[in-house]
Amino acid sequence: MKQLIVALLIIITIITLIVVAFTINQVSQEEQRLKSDLQYRSTLLAQSLKESVEPNFINKSDAYLQNVVERFSNKERFAGLGIYDNKNKVIAASSVIPEASASAQNVVANAMDADKANGDFETMGNKKVYLLAVPLHDDKSVVGALMVVQNAGYIDDRLNEIWRNNLIRLLIQASLLSFAVLLLIRWIIFEPIRGLVETLKLARAGGTEQSPKSLTSSFFFRPLVKEISNIRSSLQEARISASEEARMRLEKLDSPWTAERLKEFTKDILRGRTIFMVSNREPYIHTKDGGKISYYFPASGMATAIEPVMRSCGGMWIANGTGDADKLVVDKLDKIQVPPDEPKYTLKRIWLTEEEEAGYYYGFSNEGLWPLCHIAHNRPIFRKEDWEKYKKVNQKFADAILTEIKNQDRPIILIQDFHLSLVPKMIKAQRPGAVIGIFWHIPWPNPESFSICPWKKEILDGMLGADLLGFHTQLHCNNFIETVGRELESMIDFERFTITKNGHVSSIKPFPISISFPNGFEKVKDEIDKDEKEKLLKSLGIKTRYIGLGIDRLDYTKGILERLKAIEIFLNKYPSYLGHFIFIQIAAPSRTKVKKYRDFAVEIEKEAERINSQFKIKDWKPIVLLEKHHDHKEIQKFYRSADFCLVTSLHDGMNLVAKEYAAARYDEKGVLILSQYTGASRELKDALIVNPYNGEQTADAIKEALEMKPYEQTKRMRDMRETIKNYNVYRWSAELLKTIVNLG
Ligand code: G6P
Repeated sequence: MKQLIVALLIIITIITLIVVAFTINQVSQEEQRLKSDLQYRSTLLAQSLKESVEPNFINKSDAYLQNVVERFSNKERFAGLGIYDNKNKVIAASSVIPEASASAQNVVANAMDADKANGDFETMGNKKVYLLAVPLHDDKSVVGALMVVQNAGYIDDRLNEIWRNNLIRLLIQASLLSFAVLLLIRWIIFEPIRGLVETLKLARAGGTEQSPKSLTSSFFFRPLVKEISNIRSSLQEARISASEEARMRLEKLDSPWTAERLKEFTKDILRGRTIFMVSNREPYIHTKDGGKISYYFPASGMATAIEPVMRSCGGMWIANGTGDADKLVVDKLDKIQVPPDEPKYTLKRIWLTEEEEAGYYYGFSNEGLWPLCHIAHNRPIFRKEDWEKYKKVNQKFADAILTEIKNQDRPIILIQDFHLSLVPKMIKAQRPGAVIGIFWHIPWPNPESFSICPWKKEILDGMLGADLLGFHTQLHCNNFIETVGRELESMIDFERFTITKNGHVSSIKPFPISISFPNGFEKVKDEIDKDEKEKLLKSLGIKTRYIGLGIDRLDYTKGILERLKAIEIFLNKYPSYLGHFIFIQIAAPSRTKVKKYRDFAVEIEKEAERINSQFKIKDWKPIVLLEKHHDHKEIQKFYRSADFCLVTSLHDGMNLVAKEYAAARYDEKGVLILSQYTGASRELKDALIVNPYNGEQTADAIKEALEMKPYEQTKRMRDMRETIKNYNVYRWSAELLKTIVNLG
């Protein structure tokens, strides 16, 4: 405030000085003008009077002269007239002129002495006047003088008026200016600064409110708003991290892991090293939708698990770009920041030719390794051409990784799944210092089963280029070690679970993968609509009391046929449920270029039709098959509405649908029926565990689920949710990263 007053005083002083200088100039010019005007008029008057008085002046009587004087006196500004003889003695004079005024005498004397008009400004009485004397002649000699006296008081009046007017104007201007300055300061500076302070205060207190309008609408401060919001976000992130860190220190080691905790943990253990995640399937697939480009998240357990980890840790994910708009959205280096709406890490896309995709992906990976590793009684097909393409594409991935890690000192490379089994060795051969992990998301079969693969040794050798090999279960680890023992020359340490080959040590460990629970699941709690189930059924055109649910990729390993058969058995065995129970099967089309998958889809449709026509009553049928991709949000509604979820995989590394169902049930209701051949069945002991090949058992489990008392449902669901929360994907990746960092 003090500064403001000083600033205002300075402004006012400057304005005052300017006004005073201008007024002095104006006054002096006006004075000059008025005086010249008066002098001019006096001269004219004196000349005209002189013409009446001068002829025959000596002979004119005093009375005549006095008469002339009186005639001209008291006219407007004309104050008086005096006529003098050559001795400077007054012959006739107006009454206003004091006879012996010294100044008048001087003016007259000087005029006569110089024989020319002489004038001066004087004060008579207390009046300002102008005296002008002109000499009077007789022939050529000066015989007297005539003096006109003009009132000059009006000049001072006029000058005073100018001062007065200008000072009043100054006063008004200074007040208006001060007011305007105050108003402007308040509007342009004070209010936005107040907004700024408020925003920073809020940020300091952890608030997330928007910046006040006074700040966002300010022309001067607008550029600051974005910066402030960045600072605010950083502050919030820092706060969350700090509190998370503090919490981590205080809490026991087995407390739940969160994205933030993982972020802090990763920062701490990686110390600036970058994570390179590598997989065949990419997390975001861009597609052309008319003229618009959109994207979707694929139906992939691997992508579902890894994506939240990347969001939390950052780094680079290298994967195969398969969307028809994927190339349109990447930069020159085939990279794009993702998630597209909230970038957190880099996705680098690798492009494959149609032949490469056919041989490497559809052929060797999906027709060879997939059925080889899943004991689902589907014969693997091994073609030499596919194997060649598989090797070629693995090399393509390895080359891309080698380019990306060129300037990295000790990069951490995490390779995902069976599509890239040769990559670890390819990298290790070029960059022995790189720390490499490979995680096998599908089961590892027993040595006999695996032994049928013609290129088993190359695959095992390729995988053993990694420092860490992760599987979902100890059984899969054991199977792998036994397979290596049987197929390769190596040294196996069964105590430490390591395999040494050509001097390189690989650790084999189980890391049961999970989901990002509670992240992505806890928020929906507030959004839940009480009539969600009714609305969902209405949208599907269904009326039913009970809902059973299955959600899978259309894959023969998922046991969908066995599941439908179990429903048939259930309805036959417990007919009271006819008309009151519906099973919804969501089936995301998958690997449709592989004949077995296409045939399988047709088989499922036929089976559903067969069962429906068997039990159909008016507009009720027991099976609703939804053969399309559903996103995470849509799926949540189904999870929350279903009385039970049926997971009947014939063989599955983990199966994250089982975990997602429990995570979505914040109401602690619903029952999970789970195949004993899933990795998840090792952890989710409160599910109703079934052998999917045993239709009778599954049918009874369905009845048990539908008739389970609410308190028992709650008890089981609560325990399963607790298990998932305690061993979520953040903990999975923390343990994996800790292990790999300790190895490297
Ligand atoms: C399994 C595999 C994943 C794969 C997913 C979907 O979960 O372990 O690696 O991404 O199936 O299969 P797709 O062939 O569509 O990627």
